[in-house]
Amino acid sequence: MGRLIVVSNRVPSPRERTQPAGGLAVGLRDAMKGVESVWFGWSGQYSEDSADQEPVFDKVEGVTFATVDLTREQYERFYENFSNALLWPLFHYRIGIIDFHREDLRVYREVNAMFADHLVRFLKPDDTIWVHDYHLMPLGAELRKRGVKCKIGFFLHIPFPPWSVMRVLPPAAEFLREMVSYDLIGLQTEEDVRNLNECFRGCGLDKAAQAFPIGIDPKEFAQQAVDNIRDPEVKRLKDSLRGRKLILGVDRLDYSKGIPERLRGYETLLKRYPEHLRGAVFLQISPLSRAGVSSYQTLRRELDELVGFINGQHADFDWTPIRYLTQPVPRALLASFHRLADVALVTPLRDGMNLVAKEFVAAQDAADPGVLVLSHFAGAAPEMENALLINPYDCDDVADALDQALTMPLDERQKRWEALNEEVTRNTAAHWARHFLEVLGETASPS
Ligand code: G6P
Repeated sequence: MGRLIVVSNRVPSPRERTQPAGGLAVGLRDAMKGVESVWFGWSGQYSEDSADQEPVFDKVEGVTFATVDLTREQYERFYENFSNALLWPLFHYRIGIIDFHREDLRVYREVNAMFADHLVRFLKPDDTIWVHDYHLMPLGAELRKRGVKCKIGFFLHIPFPPWSVMRVLPPAAEFLREMVSYDLIGLQTEEDVRNLNECFRGCGLDKAAQAFPIGIDPKEFAQQAVDNIRDPEVKRLKDSLRGRKLILGVDRLDYSKGIPERLRGYETLLKRYPEHLRGAVFLQISPLSRAGVSSYQTLRRELDELVGFINGQHADFDWTPIRYLTQPVPRALLASFHRLADVALVTPLRDGMNLVAKEFVAAQDAADPGVLVLSHFAGAAPEMENALLINPYDCDDVADALDQALTMPLDERQKRWEALNEEVTRNTAAHWARHFLEVLGETASPS
């Protein structure tokens, strides 16, 4: 096989300690270790004229990162508006908050065409191209228009909605027709596959997607969790608990993650199970994300108010029920925070996969593992039946699961964790990538 060319909007900066939180960057970085590859995407920077630039190449540990800038207008219309104020909510089943404008669609297409123009300049005939996520759905068709004959695969990291939701998108049929250009389309779960295949049928297209649930690098994450446990910052967290149990939530600040619902669930626990008052601390780490998009600003205000309200109602002068951070925490430290935690609270209203659930499992100490409380609506749920599965819309369900988790005997914790860990260890990011690329390699050559 020739080189692997990975294309995604977000390319993690290869030299920074604090990587952008988000499943795509985490999963892909883990998957690309040891493969001769180029990772092409947005630099995270702006420039005046994005068409008239050369990509910047930076080779780190065998992976060549090739990045280009966006203009301010492209950042706003392609990234903030079309990708994150329209496609993101729509694909997470949130029709009520979508915002469509034809001008944004024009710039979304312009950026996809610009990416294709850059790519064709350095592609070789035996390269395999792997496009990622909702920012780049038309890229395959743009490459084909430019005569590219390589195998092109597409993987969507977020959910795919049913046709009744998808058809709300004005260019839905066009997008689906363009997706036919891909030799292979991968989605996270069987439910997503059913939905996209239904959309193809709805548009009379003869195409089918397949499920490839993404994983993590469990060995590396577990190692980080162990290695950093004596880090002074981890020790500070441990000491600050003074023997109290730690409930941990880690998510980008995003409305799809169900953070207000989770806080209400925790508050319900404090009301209905007062024996946990003062006995636990809930640490919610939510680095800011897409802060220019208004629905994210609204969520931030809601959380500021809700955390203040719950703490005001239930805190004592020497105990605060919720600790809430919006700054990012380095991954290595997070790994040990997971290991310290007694309970992880992962309550998305809808989520492509949710790698935090898998990271929590990988980070545990087999002798004394914590308990995962997980939403049915995470893409990870079908693989993680040994978690305590909850409906995040039902705060009593969340409270009951939290109580069960906080009081679960060691042998049950171990049994559940072992089963979860087996799954997390079996389906790694590397295995996911290999499997996808194998199936892509076996597809009939493009006409
Ligand atoms: C999700 C998406 C990714 C995205 C990440 C972080 O995981 O699937 O495509 O990169 O969120 O979001 P951001 O907007 O910061 O790239």
